Amino acid sequence: MSPDHSRYGYQPESHAGRAVIISVAAAVGGFLFGFDSSVINGAVDALATDFSLAPALTGVVVAIALIGSAIGAWFAGPAADRWGRLRVMFVGAILFFISSLGSGFAFAAWDLAIWRLVGGIGIGIASVIGPTYISEIAPSRLRGRLASLQQMAIVLGIFVALLSDAWLAASAGGAGSTFWAGIAAWRWMFLVGVVPSVVYGIMALSIPESPRFLVGRGRDKKAAQVLEEVLGETGPQVEQRVAAIRESVRRESKPSYQDVRHRKYLLLPIVWTGILLAAFQQFVGINVIFYYSTSLWSSVGFDQSFSFTASVITSVVNVLVTIIAIALVDRIGRRLLLLVGSLGMAVCLAVMAMGFGTASMVDGSLQLAPGWGQLTLIGANAFVVFFGATWGPVMWVLLGEMFPNSIRGYAMAIATAANWIANWLVTLSFPILRDMSLSFTYGLYAFFALLSFFFVWFRIPETKGKELEDMTTDFKVERRGRNQATAGTG
Ligand code: BGC
Repeated sequence: MSPDHSRYGYQPESHAGRAVIISVAAAVGGFLFGFDSSVINGAVDALATDFSLAPALTGVVVAIALIGSAIGAWFAGPAADRWGRLRVMFVGAILFFISSLGSGFAFAAWDLAIWRLVGGIGIGIASVIGPTYISEIAPSRLRGRLASLQQMAIVLGIFVALLSDAWLAASAGGAGSTFWAGIAAWRWMFLVGVVPSVVYGIMALSIPESPRFLVGRGRDKKAAQVLEEVLGETGPQVEQRVAAIRESVRRESKPSYQDVRHRKYLLLPIVWTGILLAAFQQFVGINVIFYYSTSLWSSVGFDQSFSFTASVITSVVNVLVTIIAIALVDRIGRRLLLLVGSLGMAVCLAVMAMGFGTASMVDGSLQLAPGWGQLTLIGANAFVVFFGATWGPVMWVLLGEMFPNSIRGYAMAIATAANWIANWLVTLSFPILRDMSLSFTYGLYAFFALLSFFFVWFRIPETKGKELEDMTTDFKVERRGRNQATAGTG
Protein backbone atom coordinates (compact mmCIF):
# COMPACT_ATOMS: atom_id res chain seq x y z
CA MET A 1 0.00 0.00 0.00
CA SER A 2 1.47 3.38 -0.96
CA PRO A 3 1.74 6.20 1.57
CA ASP A 4 -1.03 8.06 -0.24
CA HIS A 5 -3.45 5.22 0.25
CA SER A 6 -2.72 4.83 3.92
CA ARG A 7 -3.17 8.55 4.43
CA TYR A 8 -6.77 8.27 3.33
CA GLY A 9 -7.26 4.87 4.96
CA TYR A 10 -8.03 3.48 1.51
CA GLN A 11 -8.88 -0.19 1.04
CA PRO A 12 -7.41 -1.15 -2.35
CA GLU A 13 -9.50 -4.19 -3.14
CA SER A 14 -12.92 -2.76 -2.37
CA HIS A 15 -15.48 -1.73 -4.95
CA ALA A 16 -13.10 -1.82 -7.93
CA GLY A 17 -15.90 -3.42 -9.98
CA ARG A 18 -18.23 -0.49 -9.45
CA ALA A 19 -15.53 1.99 -10.52
CA VAL A 20 -14.87 -0.06 -13.66
CA ILE A 21 -18.55 -0.12 -14.64
CA ILE A 22 -18.90 3.62 -14.11
CA SER A 23 -15.73 4.29 -16.12
CA VAL A 24 -16.91 2.09 -18.98
CA ALA A 25 -20.19 4.02 -19.04
CA ALA A 26 -18.33 7.34 -19.15
CA ALA A 27 -16.05 6.02 -21.90
CA VAL A 28 -19.01 5.59 -24.28
CA GLY A 29 -18.27 9.22 -25.16
CA GLY A 30 -14.85 8.04 -26.36
CA PHE A 31 -16.60 5.54 -28.64
CA LEU A 32 -18.63 8.37 -30.16
CA PHE A 33 -15.44 10.45 -30.43
CA GLY A 34 -13.78 7.70 -32.50
CA PHE A 35 -16.93 6.79 -34.44
CA ASP A 36 -17.96 10.30 -35.37
CA SER A 37 -14.49 11.46 -36.37
CA SER A 38 -13.90 8.53 -38.76
CA VAL A 39 -17.39 7.77 -40.07
CA ILE A 40 -16.95 10.38 -42.82
CA ASN A 41 -14.13 8.28 -44.38
CA GLY A 42 -16.45 5.80 -46.06
CA ALA A 43 -19.02 8.43 -46.98
CA VAL A 44 -16.81 11.18 -48.32
CA ASP A 45 -16.49 10.16 -51.97
CA ALA A 46 -20.19 9.40 -52.39
CA LEU A 47 -21.37 12.59 -50.76
CA ALA A 48 -18.88 14.62 -52.78
CA THR A 49 -20.47 13.15 -55.91
CA ASP A 50 -24.05 13.69 -54.68
CA PHE A 51 -23.41 17.32 -53.82
CA SER A 52 -20.95 17.88 -56.73
CA LEU A 53 -18.31 19.09 -54.29
CA ALA A 54 -14.94 20.42 -55.42
CA PRO A 55 -11.97 18.79 -53.59
CA ALA A 56 -11.28 21.93 -51.54
CA LEU A 57 -14.88 22.06 -50.30
CA THR A 58 -14.80 18.35 -49.52
CA GLY A 59 -11.79 19.04 -47.32
CA VAL A 60 -13.77 21.73 -45.52
CA VAL A 61 -16.68 19.37 -44.82
CA VAL A 62 -14.23 16.79 -43.40
CA ALA A 63 -12.08 19.18 -41.37
CA ILE A 64 -14.88 21.37 -40.00
CA ALA A 65 -15.65 18.67 -37.43
CA LEU A 66 -12.17 19.19 -35.97
CA ILE A 67 -12.85 22.91 -35.53
CA GLY A 68 -16.13 22.00 -33.84
CA SER A 69 -14.16 19.68 -31.54
CA ALA A 70 -11.80 22.48 -30.53
CA ILE A 71 -14.83 24.71 -29.76
CA GLY A 72 -16.54 21.90 -27.84
CA ALA A 73 -13.42 21.20 -25.80
CA TRP A 74 -12.94 24.88 -25.01
CA PHE A 75 -16.46 25.28 -23.59
CA ALA A 76 -16.80 21.83 -22.03
CA GLY A 77 -14.28 22.49 -19.25
CA PRO A 78 -15.87 25.68 -17.90
CA ALA A 79 -19.35 24.21 -18.39
CA ALA A 80 -18.33 21.08 -16.47
CA ASP A 81 -17.10 23.27 -13.62
CA ARG A 82 -20.35 25.20 -13.55
CA TRP A 83 -23.08 22.67 -14.32
CA GLY A 84 -21.37 19.41 -13.45
CA ARG A 85 -19.73 16.66 -15.47
CA LEU A 86 -22.92 14.71 -16.12
CA ARG A 87 -25.04 17.55 -17.47
CA VAL A 88 -22.32 18.41 -19.95
CA MET A 89 -22.04 14.74 -20.90
CA PHE A 90 -25.79 14.76 -21.60
CA VAL A 91 -25.47 17.87 -23.78
CA GLY A 92 -22.70 16.03 -25.70
CA ALA A 93 -25.07 13.08 -26.25
CA ILE A 94 -27.80 15.38 -27.60
CA LEU A 95 -25.34 17.05 -30.00
CA PHE A 96 -24.16 13.64 -31.28
CA PHE A 97 -27.78 12.59 -31.76
CA ILE A 98 -28.77 15.72 -33.67
CA SER A 99 -25.60 15.61 -35.77
CA SER A 100 -26.15 11.97 -36.79
CA LEU A 101 -29.70 12.72 -37.94
CA GLY A 102 -28.80 16.04 -39.55
CA SER A 103 -25.81 14.63 -41.46
CA GLY A 104 -27.83 11.59 -42.57
CA PHE A 105 -30.61 13.77 -44.00
CA ALA A 106 -28.40 16.65 -45.22
CA PHE A 107 -29.74 18.22 -48.43
CA ALA A 108 -26.73 20.39 -49.32
CA ALA A 109 -23.02 20.68 -48.60
CA TRP A 110 -23.43 23.73 -46.34
CA ASP A 111 -26.16 21.95 -44.41
CA LEU A 112 -23.92 18.89 -43.96
CA ALA A 113 -21.05 21.14 -42.86
CA ILE A 114 -23.25 22.61 -40.11
CA TRP A 115 -24.19 19.15 -38.80
CA ARG A 116 -20.55 18.06 -38.91
CA LEU A 117 -19.68 21.15 -36.88
CA VAL A 118 -22.39 20.26 -34.33
CA GLY A 119 -21.10 16.67 -34.15
CA GLY A 120 -17.58 18.04 -33.76
CA ILE A 121 -18.68 20.06 -30.73
CA GLY A 122 -20.02 16.80 -29.27
CA ILE A 123 -16.66 15.10 -29.95
CA GLY A 124 -14.83 17.97 -28.24
CA ILE A 125 -17.10 17.71 -25.21
CA ALA A 126 -16.62 13.94 -24.95
CA SER A 127 -12.84 14.34 -25.23
CA VAL A 128 -12.76 16.63 -22.18
CA ILE A 129 -15.45 15.05 -20.03
CA GLY A 130 -14.37 11.39 -20.40
CA PRO A 131 -10.83 11.67 -19.00
CA THR A 132 -11.85 14.33 -16.42
CA TYR A 133 -14.76 12.35 -15.04
CA ILE A 134 -12.97 9.00 -15.01
CA SER A 135 -9.89 10.43 -13.26
CA GLU A 136 -12.09 12.06 -10.66
CA ILE A 137 -14.09 8.95 -9.88
CA ALA A 138 -11.33 6.30 -10.08
CA PRO A 139 -9.28 5.00 -7.14
CA SER A 140 -5.71 6.28 -7.67
CA ARG A 141 -4.14 2.85 -8.07
CA LEU A 142 -6.48 2.05 -11.01
CA ARG A 143 -6.75 5.53 -12.46
CA GLY A 144 -4.36 5.02 -15.39
CA ARG A 145 -6.05 1.81 -16.42
CA LEU A 146 -9.56 3.20 -16.12
CA ALA A 147 -8.70 6.41 -17.95
CA SER A 148 -7.12 4.30 -20.73
CA LEU A 149 -10.59 2.84 -21.29
CA GLN A 150 -11.37 6.16 -22.95
CA GLN A 151 -8.70 5.43 -25.60
CA MET A 152 -9.96 1.85 -25.94
CA ALA A 153 -13.39 3.30 -26.63
CA ILE A 154 -11.97 5.81 -29.15
CA VAL A 155 -10.15 3.14 -31.15
CA LEU A 156 -13.14 0.78 -31.01
CA GLY A 157 -15.24 3.67 -32.30
CA ILE A 158 -12.83 4.18 -35.22
CA PHE A 159 -12.85 0.46 -35.97
CA VAL A 160 -16.64 0.10 -35.81
CA ALA A 161 -17.11 3.18 -38.02
CA LEU A 162 -14.77 1.71 -40.64
CA LEU A 163 -16.48 -1.66 -40.45
CA SER A 164 -20.00 -0.26 -40.54
CA ASP A 165 -19.07 1.98 -43.50
CA ALA A 166 -17.57 -0.98 -45.36
CA TRP A 167 -20.55 -3.21 -44.60
CA LEU A 168 -23.13 -0.62 -45.66
CA ALA A 169 -21.21 0.17 -48.85
CA ALA A 170 -20.82 -3.51 -49.72
CA SER A 171 -24.47 -4.37 -48.95
CA ALA A 172 -25.81 -1.47 -50.99
CA GLY A 173 -23.37 -2.10 -53.85
CA GLY A 174 -21.50 1.18 -53.28
CA ALA A 175 -21.62 4.04 -50.79
CA GLY A 176 -23.66 6.12 -53.23
CA SER A 177 -26.26 3.40 -53.93
CA THR A 178 -29.69 3.31 -52.37
CA PHE A 179 -30.15 1.11 -49.33
CA TRP A 180 -32.98 0.57 -46.77
CA ALA A 181 -36.02 2.82 -47.05
CA GLY A 182 -34.72 4.25 -50.31
CA ILE A 183 -31.97 6.12 -48.44
CA ALA A 184 -28.40 6.11 -49.82
CA ALA A 185 -25.83 3.97 -47.98
CA TRP A 186 -23.61 6.97 -47.19
CA ARG A 187 -26.54 8.57 -45.34
CA TRP A 188 -27.04 5.38 -43.31
CA MET A 189 -23.37 5.57 -42.30
CA PHE A 190 -24.17 8.76 -40.38
CA LEU A 191 -27.60 7.61 -39.17
CA VAL A 192 -26.05 4.59 -37.41
CA GLY A 193 -24.48 7.10 -34.96
CA VAL A 194 -27.94 7.63 -33.41
CA VAL A 195 -27.60 4.33 -31.51
CA PRO A 196 -24.40 5.07 -29.52
CA SER A 197 -25.57 8.63 -28.84
CA VAL A 198 -28.77 7.36 -27.22
CA VAL A 199 -26.68 4.92 -25.15
CA TYR A 200 -24.39 7.78 -24.09
CA GLY A 201 -27.36 9.93 -23.05
CA ILE A 202 -28.83 7.10 -20.95
CA MET A 203 -25.41 6.53 -19.33
CA ALA A 204 -25.08 10.22 -18.46
CA LEU A 205 -28.43 10.00 -16.67
CA SER A 206 -27.53 6.91 -14.68
CA ILE A 207 -23.97 7.35 -13.33
CA PRO A 208 -23.13 9.39 -10.19
CA GLU A 209 -21.78 12.97 -10.34
CA SER A 210 -18.03 13.46 -9.74
CA PRO A 211 -17.22 13.88 -6.02
CA ARG A 212 -14.66 16.59 -6.91
CA PHE A 213 -17.37 18.65 -8.61
CA LEU A 214 -19.83 18.07 -5.75
CA VAL A 215 -17.35 19.28 -3.12
CA GLY A 216 -16.60 22.31 -5.30
CA ARG A 217 -20.31 23.20 -5.13
CA GLY A 218 -20.46 22.69 -1.37
CA ARG A 219 -22.38 19.43 -1.64
CA ASP A 220 -20.08 17.49 0.67
CA LYS A 221 -22.75 15.06 1.86
CA LYS A 222 -23.59 13.92 -1.63
CA ALA A 223 -19.87 13.67 -2.45
CA ALA A 224 -19.34 11.45 0.59
CA GLN A 225 -22.19 9.24 -0.58
CA VAL A 226 -20.60 8.83 -4.04
CA LEU A 227 -17.18 8.08 -2.52
CA GLU A 228 -18.75 5.43 -0.30
CA GLU A 229 -20.50 3.91 -3.27
CA VAL A 230 -17.53 3.95 -5.66
CA LEU A 231 -14.54 3.46 -3.39
CA GLY A 232 -16.25 1.50 -0.63
CA GLU A 233 -14.82 3.78 2.04
CA THR A 234 -16.79 4.55 5.19
CA GLY A 235 -16.99 6.93 8.17
CA PRO A 236 -13.78 8.78 9.01
CA GLN A 237 -12.02 7.68 5.79
CA VAL A 238 -14.66 9.38 3.69
CA GLU A 239 -14.62 12.48 5.89
CA GLN A 240 -10.86 12.69 5.55
CA ARG A 241 -11.01 12.38 1.80
CA VAL A 242 -13.79 14.95 1.46
CA ALA A 243 -11.72 17.30 3.63
CA ALA A 244 -8.68 16.76 1.39
CA ILE A 245 -10.75 17.51 -1.71
CA ARG A 246 -12.29 20.57 -0.05
CA GLU A 247 -8.84 21.85 0.80
CA SER A 248 -7.71 21.49 -2.81
CA VAL A 249 -10.73 23.23 -4.35
CA ARG A 250 -11.25 25.89 -1.70
CA ARG A 251 -11.70 29.27 -3.22
CA GLU A 252 -13.54 32.53 -2.74
CA SER A 253 -14.51 33.14 -6.33
CA LYS A 254 -16.00 30.88 -8.99
CA PRO A 255 -13.51 29.11 -11.27
CA SER A 256 -12.68 31.13 -14.39
CA TYR A 257 -10.08 31.41 -17.14
CA GLN A 258 -8.34 33.94 -14.88
CA ASP A 259 -7.19 31.00 -12.72
CA VAL A 260 -4.94 29.65 -15.46
CA ARG A 261 -3.51 33.04 -16.46
CA HIS A 262 0.09 33.88 -15.69
CA ARG A 263 1.49 37.41 -15.62
CA LYS A 264 4.69 36.58 -17.42
CA TYR A 265 3.95 33.50 -19.50
CA LEU A 266 0.30 34.29 -20.33
CA LEU A 267 -0.71 30.85 -19.02
CA LEU A 268 0.53 28.88 -16.02
CA PRO A 269 3.58 26.74 -16.87
CA ILE A 270 1.64 23.56 -16.10
CA VAL A 271 -1.00 24.57 -18.66
CA TRP A 272 1.73 25.08 -21.26
CA THR A 273 3.01 21.62 -20.41
CA GLY A 274 -0.49 20.24 -21.02
CA ILE A 275 -0.79 22.13 -24.32
CA LEU A 276 2.58 20.82 -25.57
CA LEU A 277 1.75 17.28 -24.50
CA ALA A 278 -1.54 17.48 -26.38
CA ALA A 279 0.05 19.05 -29.49
CA PHE A 280 2.89 16.52 -29.67
CA GLN A 281 0.34 13.71 -29.66
CA GLN A 282 -0.90 15.07 -33.00
CA PHE A 283 2.34 16.39 -34.52
CA VAL A 284 3.69 12.84 -34.89
CA GLY A 285 1.09 12.53 -37.66
CA ILE A 286 -1.06 9.74 -36.26
CA ASN A 287 -4.25 10.91 -37.93
CA VAL A 288 -2.62 11.07 -41.35
CA ILE A 289 -2.66 7.29 -41.00
CA PHE A 290 -6.30 7.19 -39.89
CA TYR A 291 -7.70 9.80 -42.26
CA TYR A 292 -5.57 9.25 -45.37
CA SER A 293 -4.00 5.79 -45.21
CA THR A 294 -6.04 4.32 -48.05
CA SER A 295 -5.03 7.05 -50.46
CA LEU A 296 -1.49 7.06 -49.02
CA TRP A 297 -0.93 3.41 -49.90
CA SER A 298 -2.50 3.67 -53.31
CA SER A 299 -0.43 6.77 -54.07
CA VAL A 300 2.76 4.73 -53.74
CA GLY A 301 1.72 1.84 -55.90
CA PHE A 302 -0.44 -0.51 -53.77
CA ASP A 303 -3.77 -1.38 -55.41
CA GLN A 304 -7.02 0.09 -54.08
CA SER A 305 -8.47 -3.00 -52.40
CA PHE A 306 -5.16 -3.83 -50.72
CA SER A 307 -4.98 -0.24 -49.47
CA PHE A 308 -8.45 -0.54 -47.96
CA THR A 309 -7.55 -3.84 -46.24
CA ALA A 310 -4.32 -2.32 -44.92
CA SER A 311 -6.35 0.49 -43.29
CA VAL A 312 -8.69 -1.96 -41.58
CA ILE A 313 -5.73 -4.02 -40.34
CA THR A 314 -4.15 -0.87 -38.93
CA SER A 315 -7.33 -0.01 -37.02
CA VAL A 316 -7.43 -3.54 -35.53
CA VAL A 317 -3.77 -3.23 -34.51
CA ASN A 318 -4.69 0.04 -32.84
CA VAL A 319 -7.39 -1.65 -30.75
CA LEU A 320 -5.16 -4.56 -29.71
CA VAL A 321 -2.19 -2.50 -28.58
CA THR A 322 -4.37 -0.39 -26.32
CA ILE A 323 -4.50 -3.49 -24.11
CA ILE A 324 -0.72 -3.17 -23.62
CA ALA A 325 -1.21 0.35 -22.30
CA ILE A 326 -4.03 -0.72 -19.98
CA ALA A 327 -1.80 -3.47 -18.59
CA LEU A 328 1.25 -1.25 -18.08
CA VAL A 329 0.15 2.28 -17.29
CA ASP A 330 -0.39 1.73 -13.55
CA ARG A 331 2.63 -0.60 -13.26
CA ILE A 332 5.54 0.98 -15.10
CA GLY A 333 3.94 4.43 -15.12
CA ARG A 334 3.11 7.15 -17.62
CA ARG A 335 6.60 8.59 -18.08
CA LEU A 336 8.38 5.44 -19.18
CA LEU A 337 5.57 4.56 -21.59
CA LEU A 338 5.77 8.00 -23.20
CA LEU A 339 9.57 7.89 -23.47
CA VAL A 340 9.58 4.45 -25.10
CA GLY A 341 6.74 5.57 -27.38
CA SER A 342 8.59 8.68 -28.53
CA LEU A 343 11.72 6.76 -29.49
CA GLY A 344 9.80 3.90 -31.10
CA MET A 345 7.68 6.29 -33.15
CA ALA A 346 10.73 8.33 -34.20
CA VAL A 347 12.46 5.22 -35.58
CA CYS A 348 9.35 3.96 -37.41
CA LEU A 349 8.61 7.37 -38.90
CA ALA A 350 12.24 7.69 -40.03
CA VAL A 351 11.95 4.30 -41.77
CA MET A 352 8.79 5.52 -43.52
CA ALA A 353 10.55 8.73 -44.56
CA MET A 354 13.41 6.70 -46.05
CA GLY A 355 10.94 4.36 -47.77
CA PHE A 356 8.98 7.20 -49.36
CA GLY A 357 12.34 8.70 -50.34
CA THR A 358 12.89 5.77 -52.72
CA ALA A 359 9.68 6.50 -54.68
CA SER A 360 10.04 6.90 -58.43
CA MET A 361 7.78 6.89 -61.47
CA VAL A 362 7.33 3.43 -62.99
CA ASP A 363 5.02 3.21 -66.02
CA GLY A 364 3.40 6.50 -65.14
CA SER A 365 2.68 5.75 -61.49
CA LEU A 366 4.64 6.24 -58.29
CA GLN A 367 6.36 3.16 -56.81
CA LEU A 368 8.77 2.47 -53.98
CA ALA A 369 12.10 0.71 -54.56
CA PRO A 370 12.06 -3.13 -54.29
CA GLY A 371 11.66 -4.23 -50.67
CA TRP A 372 10.87 -0.71 -49.44
CA GLY A 373 7.11 -1.09 -50.01
CA GLN A 374 6.84 -3.84 -47.41
CA LEU A 375 9.29 -2.13 -45.06
CA THR A 376 7.33 1.12 -45.20
CA LEU A 377 4.08 -0.74 -44.55
CA ILE A 378 5.65 -2.51 -41.56
CA GLY A 379 7.06 0.82 -40.37
CA ALA A 380 3.58 2.38 -40.51
CA ASN A 381 1.99 -0.41 -38.50
CA ALA A 382 4.84 -0.47 -35.98
CA PHE A 383 4.31 3.28 -35.64
CA VAL A 384 0.64 2.65 -34.80
CA VAL A 385 1.74 -0.02 -32.29
CA PHE A 386 4.02 2.46 -30.51
CA PHE A 387 1.43 5.23 -30.61
CA GLY A 388 -1.49 3.05 -29.51
CA ALA A 389 0.40 1.51 -26.60
CA THR A 390 1.83 4.79 -25.34
CA TRP A 391 1.00 8.33 -26.49
CA GLY A 392 -2.57 7.48 -27.62
CA PRO A 393 -3.91 6.55 -24.20
CA VAL A 394 -1.29 8.10 -21.91
CA MET A 395 -1.82 11.64 -23.21
CA TRP A 396 -5.52 11.39 -22.22
CA VAL A 397 -4.67 9.76 -18.89
CA LEU A 398 -2.25 12.58 -18.06
CA LEU A 399 -4.53 15.40 -19.18
CA GLY A 400 -7.27 14.04 -16.93
CA GLU A 401 -5.07 13.83 -13.85
CA MET A 402 -2.13 16.25 -14.11
CA PHE A 403 -3.96 19.48 -13.23
CA PRO A 404 -4.82 20.38 -9.64
CA ASN A 405 -8.53 20.27 -8.72
CA SER A 406 -8.82 24.05 -8.61
CA ILE A 407 -7.96 24.54 -12.30
CA ARG A 408 -8.75 21.14 -13.80
CA GLY A 409 -11.82 22.09 -15.83
CA TYR A 410 -10.26 25.11 -17.51
CA ALA A 411 -6.74 23.74 -17.95
CA MET A 412 -8.09 20.50 -19.41
CA ALA A 413 -10.29 22.47 -21.81
CA ILE A 414 -7.39 24.55 -23.12
CA ALA A 415 -5.03 21.58 -23.53
CA THR A 416 -7.70 19.47 -25.25
CA ALA A 417 -8.62 22.32 -27.59
CA ALA A 418 -4.89 22.49 -28.46
CA ASN A 419 -5.01 18.77 -29.30
CA TRP A 420 -7.87 19.39 -31.75
CA ILE A 421 -6.25 22.45 -33.31
CA ALA A 422 -3.00 20.50 -33.78
CA ASN A 423 -5.03 17.66 -35.32
CA TRP A 424 -6.68 20.14 -37.68
CA LEU A 425 -3.33 21.66 -38.70
CA VAL A 426 -1.83 18.25 -39.48
CA THR A 427 -4.95 17.10 -41.35
CA LEU A 428 -5.14 20.23 -43.49
CA SER A 429 -1.41 20.51 -44.17
CA PHE A 430 -0.85 16.86 -45.13
CA PRO A 431 -2.19 17.09 -48.72
CA ILE A 432 0.01 20.14 -49.33
CA LEU A 433 3.10 18.60 -47.71
CA ARG A 434 2.51 15.32 -49.53
CA ASP A 435 2.58 17.11 -52.85
CA MET A 436 5.89 18.70 -51.88
CA SER A 437 7.54 15.51 -50.60
CA LEU A 438 6.21 12.52 -48.69
CA SER A 439 9.71 11.79 -47.47
CA PHE A 440 10.10 15.30 -46.04
CA THR A 441 6.63 15.08 -44.43
CA TYR A 442 7.48 11.88 -42.60
CA GLY A 443 10.91 13.26 -41.71
CA LEU A 444 9.06 16.14 -40.05
CA TYR A 445 6.81 13.79 -38.06
CA ALA A 446 9.93 11.80 -37.03
CA PHE A 447 11.52 15.04 -35.85
CA PHE A 448 8.48 15.85 -33.71
CA ALA A 449 8.54 12.34 -32.23
CA LEU A 450 12.18 12.81 -31.25
CA LEU A 451 11.44 16.25 -29.82
CA SER A 452 8.61 14.76 -27.76
CA PHE A 453 11.15 12.47 -26.07
CA PHE A 454 13.09 15.44 -24.70
CA PHE A 455 9.87 17.22 -23.79
CA VAL A 456 8.76 14.27 -21.66
CA TRP A 457 12.24 13.82 -20.23
CA PHE A 458 12.42 17.39 -18.97
CA ARG A 459 8.79 18.34 -18.32
CA ILE A 460 6.70 15.31 -17.35
CA PRO A 461 7.04 13.83 -13.86
CA GLU A 462 5.51 10.48 -12.89
CA THR A 463 1.90 10.70 -11.65
CA LYS A 464 1.21 6.97 -11.17
CA GLY A 465 -0.59 6.17 -7.91
CA LYS A 466 -0.72 9.78 -6.71
CA GLU A 467 -3.95 11.27 -5.37
CA LEU A 468 -5.46 14.06 -7.46
CA GLU A 469 -5.28 16.24 -4.36
CA ASP A 470 -1.48 15.85 -4.38
CA MET A 471 -0.90 16.81 -7.99
CA THR A 472 0.24 20.34 -7.24
CA THR A 473 3.36 19.15 -5.46
CA ASP A 474 4.43 16.90 -8.32
CA PHE A 475 4.71 19.35 -11.18
CA LYS A 476 7.49 21.53 -9.85
CA VAL A 477 6.80 24.19 -12.44
CA GLU A 478 3.18 24.25 -11.31
CA ARG A 479 3.72 25.16 -7.67
CA ARG A 480 5.27 28.48 -8.53
CA GLY A 481 2.45 29.31 -10.94
CA ARG A 482 -0.29 28.24 -8.57
CA ASN A 483 0.94 30.54 -5.82
CA GLN A 484 0.79 33.42 -8.22
CA ALA A 485 -2.55 32.47 -9.64
CA THR A 486 -4.27 32.01 -6.33
CA ALA A 487 -2.68 35.01 -4.71
CA GLY A 488 -5.62 37.19 -5.60
CA THR A 489 -8.35 34.72 -4.71
CA GLY A 490 -7.17 33.72 -1.28
C1 BGC B 1 -6.03 10.68 -30.57
C2 BGC B 1 -6.82 10.75 -31.84
C3 BGC B 1 -6.47 9.54 -32.70
C4 BGC B 1 -6.65 8.26 -31.94
C5 BGC B 1 -6.13 7.13 -32.77
C6 BGC B 1 -6.34 9.39 -29.87
O1 BGC B 1 -5.65 9.33 -28.67
O2 BGC B 1 -6.32 11.77 -29.74
O3 BGC B 1 -6.54 11.94 -32.51
O4 BGC B 1 -7.30 9.50 -33.84
O5 BGC B 1 -5.97 8.32 -30.70
O6 BGC B 1 -5.81 6.01 -32.07
